Amino acid sequence: MQDMPSLQGRRVVLGITGGIAAYKTPELVRRLRSGGAEVRVVLSRGGARFVTAEALAAVGADVADDAGHGMPHIDLARWADIVVIAPATAHLMARLAAGAADDLLTTVCLATEAPVCVAPAMNRAMWQNPATRANHAALLARGVLFVGPGEGLQACGESGPGRMSEPAEIAAFLERLWGEAGALRGLLAVVTAGATYEALDPARGFTNRSSGKMGYALAAALADEGASVVLVSGPTTLAAPPRVQRTMVISAIEMRDAVLAYRDTMRLFVGAAAVADYRPEAVSPRKLKKEADTLTVTFVRNPDILAEVARLAHPPFTVGFAAETEDLEAHARAKLEGKGVDLIVANPIGEAGVGFGEDRNRVILIDKDRTVAWADAPKTEIARGLVREIITRLRRNAPS
Ligand code: CTP
Repeated sequence: MQDMPSLQGRRVVLGITGGIAAYKTPELVRRLRSGGAEVRVVLSRGGARFVTAEALAAVGADVADDAGHGMPHIDLARWADIVVIAPATAHLMARLAAGAADDLLTTVCLATEAPVCVAPAMNRAMWQNPATRANHAALLARGVLFVGPGEGLQACGESGPGRMSEPAEIAAFLERLWGEAGALRGLLAVVTAGATYEALDPARGFTNRSSGKMGYALAAALADEGASVVLVSGPTTLAAPPRVQRTMVISAIEMRDAVLAYRDTMRLFVGAAAVADYRPEAVSPRKLKKEADTLTVTFVRNPDILAEVARLAHPPFTVGFAAETEDLEAHARAKLEGKGVDLIVANPIGEAGVGFGEDRNRVILIDKDRTVAWADAPKTEIARGLVREIITRLRRNAPS
């Protein structure tokens, strides 16, 4: 699982924009390909002033451009495991930050769900200009990866930050991205997150205060370890993490159906969603009018997704959450045994600053052998810790 060379079989879309450093891109293509990656180039009009399609094709890249050569944008966007833009001009960064789609490369960037990695190349004053600083910050906040720029003598004769990283550094960056963090490569993980919404009528329904942050952080941490992650999410405004395939659902029944679509293929299931245990027995097709002084709604039980997954004939490794206001450990252990799951992550609700809707969490890990309490920490950190625990347990369970 881990020993695969990290560039082997990776599909890289290399966007080349108009900077003098574009002349170095055939060397980048050569390095990526010798590591086992497949490379498709998107050559912008500006890029074509500094490197030719012929030079790129000669080192084995398929080349697409704005004149309509090569694969169309949606196909490239879907094909990519990563989009690397090297060199990336200040103008390209501005268009990415604005969400522009005015040429093939920016359209691919907007359409792809793969991570985007930018290797800027520009004059040092352009790099330091507040407009570029703001674009850089906006792109970082959106999860765009940056390699470089380096400092040194520039083509314009000035010295300072703005030099494109060397092809060897860019290739090494990608190797690191896929190499060290690859303990779960090839494993399909399904994660549920957020609250479900159970409709009562077209305007109203029942939900809860789960924000989805814990589940989203877990999906991201699993993807960082190379897992193929399907995130089945209730309604939320959170953005899908990079490299995660997201399916949006509304009700518990929709969530269960979306999860069970992977019943034969998932090897890890994490139930981080706060699934409504009940739904209104009847959903009115019309908006209910206020008539009587009281309103009685009959609820019926929803399927228990976690328990259903744990009961599959060949269940994946299952991780459940237990959110409790009291007797945290006892309730959580009862869920571990009652639902037959492998690991329960128990967290208190109703404590200030942690749990539902918050950025931090305090959890207790419970499996059949032991109980371990962790100090409170940001959800992203807890997610990384949980993924390490999951990796250890999967290794222990793996046939030798
Ligand atoms: N869960 C689920 N489907 C449900 C209810 C819960 O998959 N219909 C999962 C949650 O994603 C979580 C775990 O089960 O991983 C525990 O959920 P929780 O609501 O805390 O427990 P319940 O089993 O519903 O028990 P109770 O509400 O009585 O505490």
